[in-house]
Amino acid sequence: METAEIRRRFLDHFERNGHTVVPSASLISPDPSVLFTIAGMVPFIPYLTGQQAAPYPRATSVQKCIRTSDIEEVGKTTRHGTFFQMNGNFSFGDYFKEGAVELAWELVTGSQDDGGYGFDPDRLWISVFHTDDEAFEVWKKVAGVPEERIQRMGLHDEENYWSTGQPGPAGPSSEIFYDRGPEYGPDGGPAVDKGGDRFLEIWNLVFMQYERGVSTGPGKNDFEILGDLPAKNIDTGMGMERVSYLLQGVDNMYEIDQVFPVIKQASELSGKRYGANHEDDVRMRVVGDHIRSSLMLIGDGVTPSNEGRGYVLRRLLRRSVRAMRLLGVDDRTLPELLPVSRDAMKSAYPELETDFTRISSVAYAEEDAFRKTLRTGTQIFDLAADETKQAGRPTLAGDTAFKLHDTYGFPIDITLEMAAEKGLSVDADEFRRLMTEQRERAKADAKSKKVGHADMSAYRELRDAGVTPFTGYEELSTDTRVRGLVRDGVAVLVAQEGDTVELVLDRTPFYAESGGQDSDAGIITADGSELEVLDVQRPIKGLIVHRVRVRSGELVSGQDVLAQVDPEWRIGACQAHSGTHVVHAALREVLGPQALQSGSYNKPGYLRLDFAWGQALGPETRSEVEEAANLGIRRNLPVSATYMPLERAKEIGALALFGETYDEDVRVVEMGGEWSRELCGGTHVARSSQIGLVTLTGESSVGAGSRRVEAFVGIEGFRYLAKERTLVSQLADTLNVQPEQLPERISRLVAQVREAEKKLAQLQRAALGTKAAELTGSAKDVLGVRFVAYEAPAGSSTEDLRNLVLDVRGKLGEQQPATVAVTAVGDNGRPTVVIATNQEARNRGLKAGELVKTAAQTLGGGGGGKDDVAQGGGSDPSKVTEALGRVEHLVGETITRGS
Ligand code: SER
Repeated sequence: METAEIRRRFLDHFERNGHTVVPSASLISPDPSVLFTIAGMVPFIPYLTGQQAAPYPRATSVQKCIRTSDIEEVGKTTRHGTFFQMNGNFSFGDYFKEGAVELAWELVTGSQDDGGYGFDPDRLWISVFHTDDEAFEVWKKVAGVPEERIQRMGLHDEENYWSTGQPGPAGPSSEIFYDRGPEYGPDGGPAVDKGGDRFLEIWNLVFMQYERGVSTGPGKNDFEILGDLPAKNIDTGMGMERVSYLLQGVDNMYEIDQVFPVIKQASELSGKRYGANHEDDVRMRVVGDHIRSSLMLIGDGVTPSNEGRGYVLRRLLRRSVRAMRLLGVDDRTLPELLPVSRDAMKSAYPELETDFTRISSVAYAEEDAFRKTLRTGTQIFDLAADETKQAGRPTLAGDTAFKLHDTYGFPIDITLEMAAEKGLSVDADEFRRLMTEQRERAKADAKSKKVGHADMSAYRELRDAGVTPFTGYEELSTDTRVRGLVRDGVAVLVAQEGDTVELVLDRTPFYAESGGQDSDAGIITADGSELEVLDVQRPIKGLIVHRVRVRSGELVSGQDVLAQVDPEWRIGACQAHSGTHVVHAALREVLGPQALQSGSYNKPGYLRLDFAWGQALGPETRSEVEEAANLGIRRNLPVSATYMPLERAKEIGALALFGETYDEDVRVVEMGGEWSRELCGGTHVARSSQIGLVTLTGESSVGAGSRRVEAFVGIEGFRYLAKERTLVSQLADTLNVQPEQLPERISRLVAQVREAEKKLAQLQRAALGTKAAELTGSAKDVLGVRFVAYEAPAGSSTEDLRNLVLDVRGKLGEQQPATVAVTAVGDNGRPTVVIATNQEARNRGLKAGELVKTAAQTLGGGGGGKDDVAQGGGSDPSKVTEALGRVEHLVGETITRGS
């Protein structure tokens, strides 16, 4: 049975049984504290906790999920995939254990001719939470499973209890296992074959009825239970890949119809037969799995980077390229593999095909970047390996491996393998120690950045009294009432002059920061009091919270107030947000439809927009985009906002942001019809000409495959240009030329300065030449050693210093008496010292290399070299005189010790 069919039967079964079919949410988790959607229930969390009323009592979905904690296991076991699909059915306070068991059993054991999966009931085993007698009885009664095939498992062996790992809904669970037969493991059911290959878990039914608190220990199930959820819910998750491989009669999840074509392609490209050699098989499975995960992640708007989601994607792509290399394919491989994965997935996810130009360009750019990394890394590796061998050491230092990994992105397994090829081992303990150290550092950083989790209960209570209607699309000033005040997470009744508190109103014209648009500024007034609005946010869906400072008077909960948005601010905000849409449309007009926005921020006078694009724009393209944007503004296009069902908005091609979850009904903002059509809740001007002006000020990279443009808007745009004009006229005045002659004049001046610098250096060198003669005459006697020390003038180069000491030594000769010449300079960017010794000095133990070390240490650096001439440097130019003194002292000491 094809995966598409398994999916269809699942959704049909639950739809027939009164469930609303909900499309998969994005892989990008809606909850910012986790990177990815890891289970089917994630999009439904607010309904499970009761934070929001569920719009339907029953729902079903096939959710795209990513879990990468077991990435190293991929390909080695039968069932570890980084991307997988979880088929789920959910009840929000509707049916509970009986209903869940009945519905699942019917689908799993129902005949294939009747829309079921047709699993043999005699091969199915059940596990329940050890104290859950009710579930035990339900399985017996409703499904007729014999007692000996229902096993109890506990909390602390991490079985049969489920939560996302974060505070939120939790509950005991019950799982359905399929017995693959004695050839896969011992008898005795899942309780015996834990984690083995014989009893394969296909479906997890969670009886979501508790609210879980924070972790209390290292185990997955060490956490506190805060109490009951408002309702008893059902959350189930069936692993689609597992059911697929059982029903397709293949050995593992990598061989199902959605993955295997990629393995086949990898096998063809490498000329390695799948099934011939275990190690190669694992590599091909890694390719099959990771290519699919990367495809899906990029599809949902993730781009490769060095942190967070982007890093996971980068790792998946690089591991694929790497696995192909190990299979013997050194050429670019993604252009051969990614389209195959797309074709295997597109029937379930048609957007992969329509969006493939963008998806593939992100992936291919990453492969090219990685191939470059491999080239540079290989050079660094070769140097380090040769040095190690020359020094006669058998082991490559751990910090070299670490540096290759950390600085050059060179994977450790490549280092290990290349070292082995050269007959070297790698100090893996030291490597791991450095990695741990770095991870600890990163953790400490993250902790110090993380803001304390606000206690949401005060907001939740306010939210229970209803959503806050937003009046700000129609008016800037609204008569309203204080619904509640919150200070440090606690509801309070009064706020006094000087206090900063959070304020919830019955209705508000203040726009809460969202969709990239900054929050509105303004004031709220009441009888005898005035408040300044500092920030406006929506901590819970539907609830608008104003952070305010009481400028005068006092404010009481329940009081009538007048909320007034600053009209100047709002005009600026509208211009900036509409300006963002205009720049987006202009980018797509100039670069093509794949230049899709991935994020934005705007506030009065300023906007920035991140978009999918692989390389820098270049000045000409930038001007073109700027011109397209300003032409759009000049065309005086009408701007409209319309509400419509999400489906309809997609049909008419309204652009949505990756990773955002949208309601059933969405607001579509259009400018000039389809020229710019986006899902957007922001505030906008009425006609494009009201934006005034957009001036691009910068363009930069924000990770591979993603660029950022910044711009000033409206009067700020004008001010920016005016400032530039003033600057140009000042320069023209100073240089006494016409503005258009500036470029030519300035390059001439730069050339002249270069020429002058060169001449100056020549003069200095000539002066140092005559200096040598002078210095030989003024040599100091240090216990019979002729000691010449000289602090060279600022700007002298290392070469000048070297020539000088060699000159002095040459003039004084190699014979007796011993000679030490030292010269240093403080001010040539970094303090430098050079020392030369003659033969007699060396005979008496005065070695240039050692003397330099002392001097350089004093300068805060290091150095060394041969016995006869050596140089070093440091970082503290104020220590030059002291360094020369130290050398003199050491000369004296060495002679005393030697005699
Ligand atoms: N949330 C449970 C799981 O992920 C069931 O859907 O296994």
